[in-house]
Parts: sequence; C-alpha cells; structure tokens
Amino acid sequence: MGIFVGPARARRFFDFLSKVYDVINPFIYTADMRDTLLRDVEGGRVLDVGVGTGYTTKHMREAVGIDLSKEMLTRARESYKGSLVLGDASRPPFKPESFGTVISAGSLYYFNDPINAVRGFKKLLRDGGVVLTITPSWNVLRIFVHIFKEKDLRKIFKEAGLRLEKIQNMRGIAFYCKAMKE
Ligand SMILES: C[S@@+](CC[C@H](N)C(=O)[O-])C[C@H]1O[C@@H](n2cnc3c(N)ncnc32)[C@H](O)[C@@H]1O
Repeated sequence: MGIFVGPARARRFFDFLSKVYDVINPFIYTADMRDTLLRDVEGGRVLDVGVGTGYTTKHMREAVGIDLSKEMLTRARESYKGSLVLGDASRPPFKPESFGTVISAGSLYYFNDPINAVRGFKKLLRDGGVVLTITPSWNVLRIFVHIFKEKDLRKIFKEAGLRLEKIQNMRGIAFYCKAMKE
C-alpha cells in the first residue's frame, strides 16, 4: 500500500501540499487533459471527488466538490462557482442517483479500496450517468499511491458494475477512463 493512501494520510499530505499545489499541478495535469475529460460531462449535477483547489470544475455552477483537505478547500473557495463540501468521498453525504457525472481527476489512487470507492460513485449516479477518471500510470509513484495498469482499471470498473466506454493513455503519464451506469 502506498504511503499516502487512505483518508488520514491523504488529508495530511494535501493540507501540506496546498501551499504550492496550484503552481505545480498544471505542468502535470495539463489544460488539454482537463478539457478531454470535460467534453464527456453528462447533463445534471456534477460531483468532483477530491476537488482539491478546484482546477477541474471551478467554472461549473452545477458542480459539487468534495475534499478531505481543509487547506485545499480554502484555496478552492477563492474561485469555485459551485458548492464545496469538506468530507470523505468514501462515505459521501449525498442522495443516491443525484448526479449525472462523477469526476475523479487525480483522487482514485488515494482510496484504500478503489473498487468500493467506484461502487459508491455508481450509487450516486442516475442511470446513463458517467464516472470520469484520470489516474497516473507512472510506476515510480508506486511507493506513494496506487498505480493502476490498464487491466486493473478494467477490473475496477467491471467489478463496480459500470460499463467502461473509453480508456486512453494521456501523455504517457496517466490513464483517462469514461465508464457508464446502465
Ligand atoms: C491530486 S489532488 C487532485 C485535485 C483536483 N481534482 C485536481 O485535479 O487538481 C487529490 C485530491 O483528492 C483529495 N482526496 C483524496 N482522498 C479523498 C477522499 N477519500 N475523499 C475526498 N477527497 C479525497 C485530496 O485531499 C486532494 O485534494
């Protein structure tokens, strides 16, 4: 298990990293990668799991961002148009079937049990809703977080009961997945 996996460790890590996060993040998670994901957003409310400082969804009034880190959310509050919730997305405080899209851009690999996490995302989606995920593929990060291979991601979505519509390599450093609730 990576040394930053799990809610308590992820929270401490991002409370600390929040000071420099917005300077570093766009070099790794580029605007092109973000736009690829945003093109697949479905109608209805959008849940951004691990919203961080709001990089992916800050422009969306219909978005709800949840994050463990108080410090990351403090920064998100400066420009976020939707609503923000401090909490653990493995125990999400939302009604079932209340979202059209669940985004996890850079957060799934911090969950203790990623299959269970995606099962939880599925419960929050209406039929026809989608989970959109960006997760790193750099093996060197394996001591810190979960690093999924393509076959791991296929298994995660299958076992969570979602149909994987798209899986693509992004810049050789990440996978992007779109999976649908049927
Ligand atoms: C790499 S950052 C990604 C931030 C943002 N999505 C972005 O793309 O810039 C990961 C974020 O996920 C949050 N996170 C990790 N595990 C979480 C959980 N179980 N519930 C809520 N947030 C979580 C962290 O606190 C951190 O802010």
